[in-house]
Amino acid sequence: AFQVKIASSGQVYEIPADKSVTSALLEHGVEILVSCEQGVCGTCITRVLEGECDHRDLYFTDDEKAKNDQFTPCCSRAKGKLLVLDL
Ligand code: FES
Repeated sequence: AFQVKIASSGQVYEIPADKSVTSALLEHGVEILVSCEQGVCGTCITRVLEGECDHRDLYFTDDEKAKNDQFTPCCSRAKGKLLVLDL
């Protein structure tokens, strides 16, 4: 598990190992638009302000992944304990 912080509200939410970032946030009323939910379409792309992404999508190139400034929260996760999202 790791935590996600919403930059605009300062709220921090726990993301359990068995839930995606988008589904865990939705349970707290934070909605991110999704479509494929498999890391293919790019609909859910969200900017990352802090923390290291664990990219699990097929959408970004390796260069884009290495920049660590956006990720696909329908399937990707965090390598560390916290991600701060530009939401
Ligand atoms: Fe398609 Fe996330 S919903 S990449």
